[in-house]
Amino acid sequence: MAAREHWSGRFGFIMATAGSAVGLGNIWKFPYEAGRNGGGAFLLMYLFFVALFGLTLVIAELIVGRTTQRNPVGAFRALGGGLWPLVGGMGVLAGFVILSFYIVVAGWTLAYLGFMATGSLGTDAAQLGERFGAFVSSPVQPIVYAGMFMVLCAGVVVGGVNSGIEKASRLLMPALFVLLLVLVGRSITLPGAAEGLGYFLRPDWSKVTSATVSSAIGQAFFSLSLGMGALVTYGSYLKSTDTIPGSAAIIVGLDSLVAILAGLMILPAVFAFGFDPSAGPGLTFITLPAVFAQMPGGSFFGVVFFGLLAVAALTSAISLLEVVVCYFTDEHSMHRKSATLLVAMIGFALGIPASLSLGIWSGFTVPGTEKNIFDFMDFTASNLMLPLGGMLTAIFVGWRWSQPASDALIKGGLWPPLASGWVFILRFVAPLSIGYIIYGAIA
Ligand code: PHE
Repeated sequence: MAAREHWSGRFGFIMATAGSAVGLGNIWKFPYEAGRNGGGAFLLMYLFFVALFGLTLVIAELIVGRTTQRNPVGAFRALGGGLWPLVGGMGVLAGFVILSFYIVVAGWTLAYLGFMATGSLGTDAAQLGERFGAFVSSPVQPIVYAGMFMVLCAGVVVGGVNSGIEKASRLLMPALFVLLLVLVGRSITLPGAAEGLGYFLRPDWSKVTSATVSSAIGQAFFSLSLGMGALVTYGSYLKSTDTIPGSAAIIVGLDSLVAILAGLMILPAVFAFGFDPSAGPGLTFITLPAVFAQMPGGSFFGVVFFGLLAVAALTSAISLLEVVVCYFTDEHSMHRKSATLLVAMIGFALGIPASLSLGIWSGFTVPGTEKNIFDFMDFTASNLMLPLGGMLTAIFVGWRWSQPASDALIKGGLWPPLASGWVFILRFVAPLSIGYIIYGAIA
């Protein structure tokens, strides 16, 4: 077997892992979740969960990976045995589910890149809304774009982790960041933007229900790529001498920052153009083109924006694909090439019903829920499987493996009281609060 690849250094690791974290979750999902869940109230709850156990769990997953040098299933088997590998298995499954609906939305960004480049979108707000609805509900086009995106993704993963993911992330993540700042600047200076700013920054607690809390926690997990072993996998490409907490803090900080910037970019524009902030998944695809239409050089910015959104989606989807591929190569001795092909094909096949459920199958709801297939996949993975995976990881590391883990962190230079605090959160705070919220989501 070929030797396991490792990140070339700290910067590459941080960019690749931030690349996994920063994606559609931040730029597409976060603003619309905030838009329909009380604006600032959602923002505060999300940040609260990130601070409460986000960083702690990011460190936990990374150190499980670094120690075992294995995929999530193998990692839990090596450290815990018994039924623990099932936690990794659930993660691999969640990776499949997320990948399947993720490529659908990522496909939209590719399509919009093309529409922007050819100037075929139009400028009028109402028209843009109709255009988006017609596009996502059409039975063929979005599926073709999702397939194209999957091919891109597989093309990178086939080439291996090191030169592909790392090299791309180093270049593209900083570029994404600069562009976001430019767009935020434009958005918050639009006439009428203040209302949206207020909506995003001033919490409206009356909109908060137990469903809001569940969405906020689901968003924290989804956005940080937590609870499904993506970070175990990326951690397994660290060398045993690489330290974790500082890098983890930077990754978490970047991820939250991008989510906030995306909110600042989109919500003021929503209000400035008189859209409904609770419009849901279409928010980014309808309002931003409207903003670009008002900007000097807007079509240029539009192309660059959707290009970078596609890239942000790509670096995240790569990590989703990589988790499953890494599982097949580690555990079933498959070649990277055949594993990638297999996973990409199944993921694409599962993406088809997700896409159709926004169009010709929109009348169908999953029995026992009021959700179409797309929303059901998103809800099950983001609001149930990821929190459950995160909770079990916290329990495992906190109760079964805390001594070796905190010894390793302290050896890497972590201040011992912080290591104790870390274990305390893993033992009590994370399992109790996450468990309570999962219970609320299904009860
Ligand atoms: N964090 C990614 C995003 O915000 C999505 C993701 C979830 C990636 C889970 C990997 C694992 O878009």
